[in-house]
Amino acid sequence: MTPFQAIFRLDLPHGRCVGVALPTDFAGRGGAIPEAALGALDVEERRHVETLAPLRRTTFVGGRLALRAALADLSIDPGAILSTARGAPRLPAGAAGSISHKDGLAVGLAAAAGDGADGGGAGDGGGWRLGVDIERIRTGRPDISGKVLRPEELARLPAAPDADADALAAGARRNEEVVFAFSAKEAIYKALDPFVQRYVSFHEVAVLRRDDGAAEAILHLRRPPGRAADEGPFEVQVAWSRIDDDVILTTARVRPAR
Ligand SMILES: CC(C)(COP(=O)(O)OP(=O)(O)OC[C@H]1O[C@@H](n2cnc3c(N)ncnc32)[C@H](O)[C@@H]1OP(=O)(O)O)[C@@H](O)C(=O)NCCC(=O)NCCS
Repeated sequence: MTPFQAIFRLDLPHGRCVGVALPTDFAGRGGAIPEAALGALDVEERRHVETLAPLRRTTFVGGRLALRAALADLSIDPGAILSTARGAPRLPAGAAGSISHKDGLAVGLAAAAGDGADGGGAGDGGGWRLGVDIERIRTGRPDISGKVLRPEELARLPAAPDADADALAAGARRNEEVVFAFSAKEAIYKALDPFVQRYVSFHEVAVLRRDDGAAEAILHLRRPPGRAADEGPFEVQVAWSRIDDDVILTTARVRPAR
């Protein structure tokens, strides 16, 4: 796959999603960005690229190309997509979007929306904020289930593997569920952060994956210290799909409950 070229374009439940190939070898990841890729960016984005360390240039450019392509598919011109103080892609009112990049792939998810911060009104696209996340499903990694899952989610996991073949299959399923939950929670975080503007721990959200590409999400937001009122309530939607054999792509959208 040619680095920095679009490799898929999908209409997903929460928006248009474009995937862009990133270099996978070390030299490519830290090497010069092709002129054609830089030329597709806004001038202010290109100026920002020059301030970044080589490895970070690759992911920044890939993410911007992916999100710009998704917005272009919706006929939205975002101008320069720089970053908010909290690290999210800064988009104009009328657009919502999110970025993820991992091991050779960057994705951008976009939808038309109002500025969303106030929950929106009629004709603003619903006031949804978006999140997208990609994770590679690999076995043999450290078990992160205790960090990522709440007790009720841990109880739903297939049993931990031991030696025989059935147990190995159960182990693979268990691993995939943990990767899904991690990905879904990161996507939710990206969509929720514009409203709460704080670190939200993995134990403040529970997710349950359905076979049909949907998932349930329940927020258990803790009241932040010093705040008089609880945050929310919020409406949260999650969807997932597989890209190739080993990538799980999760999208989320969040808005104040109506
Ligand atoms: C911010 C975070 C979600 C990024 O996830 P990641 O797997 O490290 O990296 P990804 O490649 O998937 O995503 C990186 C992109 O996230 C986006 N992002 C970063 N901070 C963000 C924020 N506060 N809100 C929305 N999007 C954000 C950026 O677009 C970034 O790419 P860019 O810098 O090139 O623009 C993660 O590092 C984090 O801090 N998580 C907080 C805890 C959490 O996820 N809790 C889950 C329970 S809700």
